[in-house]
Amino acid sequence: MKLVTTTLIDRRFREKIVLVGMVAWPRTVEEVEASLDELALLVDTAGADEAARVVQRREAADPATYIGRGKAEELRRISEAVDADTVVFDDELTPAQQRNLEKILGRTAIDRTAVILDIFAQNAHTQEGRAQVELALSRYRLPRLRGMGLVLSQQAGGIGTRGPGETQLEVDRRRIMRRIRKLEVELRDLESTRRTQRKARKRGALRTVSLVGYTNAGKSTLLNVFTDAGVLVEDKLFSTLDPRTRRLDLPGGESVLCSDTVGFVRKLPHQLVDAFHATLEVVGSSDLLVHVVDASAADPPAQIDAVHAVLTEIGAGEVPELLAFNKADLDRRKAGRLMSTHPGSVACSALTGRGMPELLRAVADQLRIADHVVELAVPVARGDVVAAIHREGEVIGERYEGERVLVTARLDERGARRYAEFVLG
Ligand code: GTP
Repeated sequence: MKLVTTTLIDRRFREKIVLVGMVAWPRTVEEVEASLDELALLVDTAGADEAARVVQRREAADPATYIGRGKAEELRRISEAVDADTVVFDDELTPAQQRNLEKILGRTAIDRTAVILDIFAQNAHTQEGRAQVELALSRYRLPRLRGMGLVLSQQAGGIGTRGPGETQLEVDRRRIMRRIRKLEVELRDLESTRRTQRKARKRGALRTVSLVGYTNAGKSTLLNVFTDAGVLVEDKLFSTLDPRTRRLDLPGGESVLCSDTVGFVRKLPHQLVDAFHATLEVVGSSDLLVHVVDASAADPPAQIDAVHAVLTEIGAGEVPELLAFNKADLDRRKAGRLMSTHPGSVACSALTGRGMPELLRAVADQLRIADHVVELAVPVARGDVVAAIHREGEVIGERYEGERVLVTARLDERGARRYAEFVLG
């Protein structure tokens, strides 16, 4: 399927970009700078360069121009001085703010959401991933059509072109709305196929472990080491947009399904969370999340928080989690410190392989804890109980010992309680 939407950042050359952040209570200068650092990485991943950075202090955003008219004029002068092609705002702009800013600045004005959508559009590979991204982009574009000028009609070129007639605008709007509806139907179909597949997997009784984490934390690398999956690894943000699932053999003999997922980021656009709902659903239905953290990042706890916020948003806040402090090879002391302040976590390096056996053991242990593997001794005469355990749980082992049957089974919490009188130890 072809993406009908064009990219927001021109990739035929490396655009020069001015980044703009706003310090307004309760955000501090440090927080805004950290967010702009991340935005610079996003812009780099989208194929452009930071040419200048502007931080504005205000009580609140101006409804018409976001940073205020005077500051916008100053921003135009700065943009001219560094010969910038585009100005990227760290916060989401309303369609009206975007239009007004483009008029004052005389160049493309986009926001962080647009940059992330742009990167996602570049990196989606499967049919479902592409449909999800196109849906998110279309929903983002619809209210902004006027500002986007001829982009949609031309199918190419930068965002700066302007001035379609009202009729063209209407034609474009109707076309996008039709496309959105078609994509929604297509995604629903794909989603139901995915559900059926997932049910079949569940019947196969393989449990699922999902790798989640901030973008660039090392999830794909880890999955490669785990499973020899040959998943694409890139030192770019969001190289993974479609979940890849592989079989993983754990110490102790159990096999599980392990999925790599989309990288999370601060302020993940809600259009994306929405569009990627089916993909992210894999996360919510997992038995365990391995939350991969880049231990060498500037502020790992902030990244952990950002990931938790997304997990809560997609309804996966309650899934048991194992923290893996990756890239320990870059700063062993820091990884060690993080591990000691987060009980139950593991420090590792997907690159050197250090800590991998410990991580796999921890995954196996956590799954056992989550799932009540119990040993029961049932009198031979109680064949009904043994049969019920087979029905309700998963029997891992069974042997006869005199007048008893010793059963090792995985039961849910209720089952474990129901057969408590037979549980050993
Ligand atoms: P997204 O797709 O953006 O979510 O990224 P990801 O979390 O899947 O990260 P990925 O595996 O693509 O790794 C990102 C970069 O970090 C790559 O350049 C890897 O080589 C590097 N990397 C991964 N693990 C380690 C590690 O343990 N140590 C070091 N030094 N680098 C690592």
